[in-house]
Amino acid sequence: MLEISVPFHCKLKTMVRCRKFFVSITAILTLVGLKIYFDIMDELPIFSELPPTPSEPLRNPLLILEPLQGQEDVSMDTLHDMANKLRRLLVTSDSYWNTNEQHLLDSKDTRAWTCKTPKEPLKDLATYPEPLQLFLQHGGCREYHLIIDQPDKCSHNRTFLLLAIKSSPQNFAQRQAVRSSWGTERSYGGLYVRLVFLLGVAPGQDLSSLIWYENGQSHDLLQWDFLDTFFNLTLKDQLFLGWARLRCPEARYILKGDDDVFVRTSEIVQELTLLGGHQNQALYMGHVVSSAKPFRDPRSKYYIPHSYYAGSYPPYAGGGGYVFSGALTPWLYLVAHFVTPFPIDDVYTGMCFMALGMKPTGHPGFRTFEIPVRQKYPCCSKKHLLLVHKKNPQEILQMWNKLRDHVQHS
Ligand SMILES: *[C@@H]1O[C@H](CO)[C@@H](O)[C@H](O)[C@H]1NC(C)=O
Ligand SMILES: *[C@@H]1O[C@H](CO)[C@@H](O)[C@H](O)[C@H]1NC(C)=O
Repeated sequence: MLEISVPFHCKLKTMVRCRKFFVSITAILTLVGLKIYFDIMDELPIFSELPPTPSEPLRNPLLILEPLQGQEDVSMDTLHDMANKLRRLLVTSDSYWNTNEQHLLDSKDTRAWTCKTPKEPLKDLATYPEPLQLFLQHGGCREYHLIIDQPDKCSHNRTFLLLAIKSSPQNFAQRQAVRSSWGTERSYGGLYVRLVFLLGVAPGQDLSSLIWYENGQSHDLLQWDFLDTFFNLTLKDQLFLGWARLRCPEARYILKGDDDVFVRTSEIVQELTLLGGHQNQALYMGHVVSSAKPFRDPRSKYYIPHSYYAGSYPPYAGGGGYVFSGALTPWLYLVAHFVTPFPIDDVYTGMCFMALGMKPTGHPGFRTFEIPVRQKYPCCSKKHLLLVHKKNPQEILQMWNKLRDHVQHS
């Protein structure tokens, strides 16, 4: 006979009194069953629904800009007019960035990015943290030699999604984890995914022979001759846009991300194919940060002094990972002529999109910040995840294997 341990007062003849006990057991079993069910559901790759529609109708800058393709002079005038949208962001102030930007917008000067050092150096520059000082001394130059190129990256079969992953030279393991898991170059039902890692040179270390060896195996590195530091990430973005507009102009979408994110590539591809009409031409989607203010604490990595920048930031997609339309690449690169360089890369990207008249579209599947999940997203279970941040190489590989096992067994 089956032996079930029941409280001693629960002998069969007194069963009625123990109804409560059995009700609880049933409830617990049901809950356990449900939990198992949801765990399974959560892990299955699910083609979730469309991203939420933006509250404002999305303007499509391409309707204005596309006819100007190839006529750079005319385009620059048009771009200047568009960039005036940045005035919404500008706080009148004698802060360095604000006055510079005011000047650029007033004068139609197309020299936001120039290798010349600024004429009027900041009065209190010496009080700034060293990275910010370095940024201000060299921050406007975007002419750096490309050491490692991938000229044929996009030359066969139209690229549907280009994965452009910001990495640092010493992050060999991160790159290997990405390329052997979610970043593998392949076709998803005829839609091609390509991968490049974006690198500068390591400060204080010569890793060039290792980097050349790695690239000989993987053919997915882009490396420029500038120091790969945190405050040079905006520069990295600019150099990448310059590269992409020449080498990969046909890419439908670009996913810009860090090398410590995990991406459910097939789900992102699937979602992108569902985007209709103007949305696919003018997409800027990710985890939206709206009305953020500069960090004013000098101990923060993101510290921005008031004398450098006044006001809040434009809405932007968190730099850990976001997606945008490839068609916007040349326009983002060009409109940056009218946007004063800013050292925090995702904020700068938000400024450039704003200069094109675009705001980011939020998507709950992009988790680029370490925020307690339940607090921030009461609506969404794990099945909606498209991208998560802050994963080490082991975790990336584990997550990938788990996902693959589920696909194979379902
Ligand atoms: C291009 O597509 C063809 C078939 O459609 C495939 O055989 C070939 O491997 C693809 N080329 C690349 C570089 O992916
Ligand atoms: C960015 O790279 C340039 C070129 O290597 C370097 O001179 C500059 O100091 C770097 N900037 C920062 C903020 O590290």
